[in-house]
Amino acid sequence: MKIKDSVAFVTGSNRGIGKSYITALLNQGAKKVYAGMRDAGAFSAIAAEWPQEHRGKVEPVAIDITNEGHIRSALTKAGDVTLLINNAGIANFTGLISADNLDSARQEMEVNYFGTLRITRAFAPVLKKNGGGALVNVLTVASLVNFPVLGSYSASKAALHSLTQGIRAELAAQGTQVFGVFPGPIETDMAKNFDMEKSSPDLIAEGTLSAIEQGKEDIFIDPMAVQFRKDYFADPKALEAQLANFLPVPSS
Ligand SMILES: NC(=O)c1ccc[n+]([C@@H]2O[C@H](COP(=O)([O-])OP(=O)(O)OC[C@H]3O[C@@H](n4cnc5c(N)ncnc54)[C@H](OP(=O)(O)O)[C@@H]3O)[C@@H](O)[C@H]2O)c1
Repeated sequence: MKIKDSVAFVTGSNRGIGKSYITALLNQGAKKVYAGMRDAGAFSAIAAEWPQEHRGKVEPVAIDITNEGHIRSALTKAGDVTLLINNAGIANFTGLISADNLDSARQEMEVNYFGTLRITRAFAPVLKKNGGGALVNVLTVASLVNFPVLGSYSASKAALHSLTQGIRAELAAQGTQVFGVFPGPIETDMAKNFDMEKSSPDLIAEGTLSAIEQGKEDIFIDPMAVQFRKDYFADPKALEAQLANFLPVPSS
């Protein structure tokens, strides 16, 4: 699929990687971009950062991906979408056993897995009507091997990885290409408490768009992700053992 003249919808686009997706889409000639964000009131401040010639191409859409009503309303506005980028996500940095209760794990599943599934099911017929197009799920290297320090987040993103494989098969018949992006640590609010080298969100956004054009389904862009992929395919048990050294801090 070509990015030029595509009509894209990006969730969680008010900050972080989502915001970089909007800029990259505009720079690469997307015809129109729907900027999904929970607080569409934040849009004008963000839009002020884009070059004047691009601003008219972006339309804000208020959307919480866990809210069926918001999704229905987004559908009525964005019936011309050819590229859906499921970027919205949360990470609560909780362990599976050390967390006080199941609230955090449920919330991560509700947003990262069920929220993405909900919007994907809603937009699948739109993509079909518009010729097939493409769909991108923003996963993480933690989709492949659990990071116990964010154990419940990893589990929700592993579920999303499985979902990505499943919808790839289901949507093939309608000509929709399905991509999964597996970033390592990225310089955004989500990773602000991670004391390690991080890559820029622009790198992920630009790398995703070129991988889409090349038809690469599994997208590893930043240096940590590229190395992680090699290590994973070489010896997944060794990676699991290595990550087991980084345990969550017990809550009490
Ligand atoms: N940063 C990393 O190191 C890293 C690494 C691998 C993968 N990722 C993935 O990359 C994606 C983007 O994360 P980021 O790093 O850019 O994080 P971020 O800066 O925390 O941004 C997260 C975005 O998701 C939105 N969001 C959260 N819950 C939502 C909901 N229920 N409905 C709609 N939007 C919602 C947020 O909106 P509000 O502003 O309203 O909260 C925000 O726009 C996520 O899927 C994340 O898991 C990040």
